[in-house]
This record gives sequence, structure tokens and C-alpha cells, in this order.
Amino acid sequence: MKTVAIFGSTGSIGKQSLEVIRAFPNDFKVIALTAHSSAKLLDAQSKEFGAKSALGLKNKEELIANADYVINGVPGFDGLGISIAALKAGKILLSANKESLAIAGKWLKEIAKENGAKIYPLDSEASAIWQLMHEHGEDILSSVTLTCSGGPFLGKTTDELANVTIQQALDHPTWQMGPKVSLDSATLINKVLEVCEVSKLFNIPFSKIHISVHPQSLVHSMVHTKTGGTKMHITQNDMRLFISYALHYPNQPEPAWPILRAKRSEMNFLQADEETFRSIKWLKQHGGNPNFPIVLNALNDIATSRFLNGDMKFLEIYDFIEAGFEKWLYEMPPKTLEEMIEFHEKITNEHSNTASRGKVLASQAK
Ligand SMILES: NC(=O)c1ccc[n+]([C@@H]2O[C@H](COP(=O)([O-])OP(=O)(O)OC[C@H]3O[C@@H](n4cnc5c(N)ncnc54)[C@H](OP(=O)(O)O)[C@@H]3O)[C@@H](O)[C@H]2O)c1
Repeated sequence: MKTVAIFGSTGSIGKQSLEVIRAFPNDFKVIALTAHSSAKLLDAQSKEFGAKSALGLKNKEELIANADYVINGVPGFDGLGISIAALKAGKILLSANKESLAIAGKWLKEIAKENGAKIYPLDSEASAIWQLMHEHGEDILSSVTLTCSGGPFLGKTTDELANVTIQQALDHPTWQMGPKVSLDSATLINKVLEVCEVSKLFNIPFSKIHISVHPQSLVHSMVHTKTGGTKMHITQNDMRLFISYALHYPNQPEPAWPILRAKRSEMNFLQADEETFRSIKWLKQHGGNPNFPIVLNALNDIATSRFLNGDMKFLEIYDFIEAGFEKWLYEMPPKTLEEMIEFHEKITNEHSNTASRGKVLASQAK
């Protein structure tokens, strides 16, 4: 029986992780659960599983100490500290948090190596590549294609996106997810972060990572082989499959959820509209810049929270991030994890200062 600590247990990944554990009660025991503010649900989960619980991340080292597996289901930069703590403690980290892998994957892998820890991805696209390489051998890989649902605004023009509402942006057609990742899927910034994540996790250069819009979200990634073939990972769009795969790796049980029977499924593959969803173009423009993932992630964390608070319009997310690129991409790249964290904080502080300065100026102007 393996022990599991779940960070972000009241969120989409956290709740689905608990569903997997309910389906395999003889394999796993939940020992620790955390949330940000959902105290009532956290309390109910903690009673059901007989696990310790905490709001916030202050006691993370203590909560991790007796766990074999640590599930990171906290979004954004805030998830980074959990990954660092889990890997320093020599644990198996199951990371749904793609942001920390995108910005710090290289350092996280070093910490894992130093401490005998492991990183298993939960993100479906990264997991699909991991699964294909496990089944067919790492040597087959020549390049990869990450699929992308296209989000709720697939096919929309820039004009049509000008005044979209928060609710429309969060209404993802194929996945039920938390607000930040749903919004990132609408801007397609999610896919850009995943390219960075997969590049760091599997040492694949950006030039060998392609994107294909696949509205049905049934193919999760493709591995193009050295002999010219393509292997696709195809399942129902159900995150429990990916969580279960990582929890059971490498010995998989019979699937606990319905498998895809392609009786009435259509599969389409389209090119991403880079003119409307400008984020995809950033990969070509700035992908070679080592600061790109860090700057993108820091600015995106700010922009998504402003959009979700009603302080920014949808297209302004792109404008804000592009303006930030000019300012931050050409700073000296961080050489260590500590320098990367300082760089992130510098960007974040500068833009929160701008926001508060803006408010002061606005109030003086009234
Ligand atoms: N959902 C998916 O299907 C999916 C798929 C692939 C990857 N991911 C990745 O998984 C991560 C989590 O996504 P999600 O959709 O599960 O998010 P979510 O539904 O918003 O859940 C987030 C969880 O983290 C907690 N949390 C949020 N901010 C926190 C903070 N600052 N400190 C401590 N706890 C905090 C929340 O607690 P409260 O409930 O108290 O707010 C909640 O338990 C993201 O990085 C996302 O990109 C998600």
C-alpha cells in the first residue's frame, strides 16, 4: 500500500485523484490533503480518508514527510514550492502543475536526481508521450505533436473575441477544469506552456515539437518515429486515466473506466490560427530565448487573474504579455533555480506596482 499526499485536493485534479484512489482502495492510502480556501470540502475529504489536512502551503514539508507519492494539483507559480519540497524529500512527484515544469523543469530534474526522487507527468499531453515512450522505447522518438482542443473560441475571429465574457472563456468544450487552465486553453497559452513543459521533461527541442488542433480531444499526443511512422495515444478525455497511469506506473491494472470504442467518433486535425491566437506565434518568435517560459508564465499568471477579476479584456491578455516581452525577455537569464525565482518575483512585483500605481493615479485623477 502506497501513501499519497494531494496538494489542491478540492480542485479538478485533486478531486479526480481522490476518485482514482477510491477505485483502488487496496493500493493507496491518502495521508495528507490541502486546499487554498475551500475549508468545508477539505474537512469532508479529510474525514472520509482519515487524512491530515491544511489550508495553504506553509506546512508542506511536514505533510509530505510520510508520503510515497505527492500529487501537485495547485495551478500557476504557487505550485513550484510543492514540487521543490517533494523532490528534495526524495518522493515520487505526480505533477499536474505544468507551469513549474515549464519554467524550472531543468532544475527540478537535477533536484530529483540528487535526491533519488522521480517526476511523473499528469498533464494528458505529456503523459501521452511518456506512455508512448514507455511502450515503444525512448529511441523511437524523432519529433512529437501535441494536440490542442482549440478551446471554446475555436474558429472565432479577433473581432468576435473583443468582448467575450469570463463565463464564455471558461466554458471549455471537452474538459472540465479549474478556471486558470480553462482560460489558458481559451487563449491557447496552455499549449505554449505545454510545449515548454514537454521540451524540459523529455529534452526535446522546440523545433521538434508541433501543435495540431484536434477538437475532439481523443488523441492526446503523437510521437513521430525515426522510421517515419506516427504513434498516437488515444483515450477518452478523462483525466482519471492519466492520474491512474502515473499512480500505478509501471505495473498497470485493468482500466477502471470505460475505454474508447471508436464506433461513432470523428477525429479532425486542423492548423492553429496563429493570427487570432497570437500565443502560438510567440513560440516561433521567442522560443529560442531562455527567458521565454519564465517571462510568459509570470505575465500570464498576472493577466489571467486580472481577466478573471474582470479587470482585463480577453485580447488585452495578449497585448499585456507582448508588452512585457519587450521589457523582460532580454534580461540576463537566470543561472540557478534561486535566480529564476528572484526573476519571477521581480516581474510580478514590478507589474503589481504598476497596477497599484495605476490605481493611485486613477484615484488622484478623480
Ligand atoms: N483540471 C484538469 O483537467 C487539468 C489537466 C491538466 C493539467 N492541469 C493542471 O493542474 C493544475 C491544477 O488545475 P485544476 O484544474 O485542478 O485547478 P483548480 O480546479 O482551480 O484547483 C486548484 C486547487 O489548488 C488549490 N489552490 C489554488 N491556489 C492555491 C494556492 N495559492 N495555494 C494553495 N492551494 C491553492 C485550490 O484550493 P481551493 O479549492 O481552496 O481554491 C484547489 O484545491 C494546473 O496547473 C493545471 O494546469 C489540470
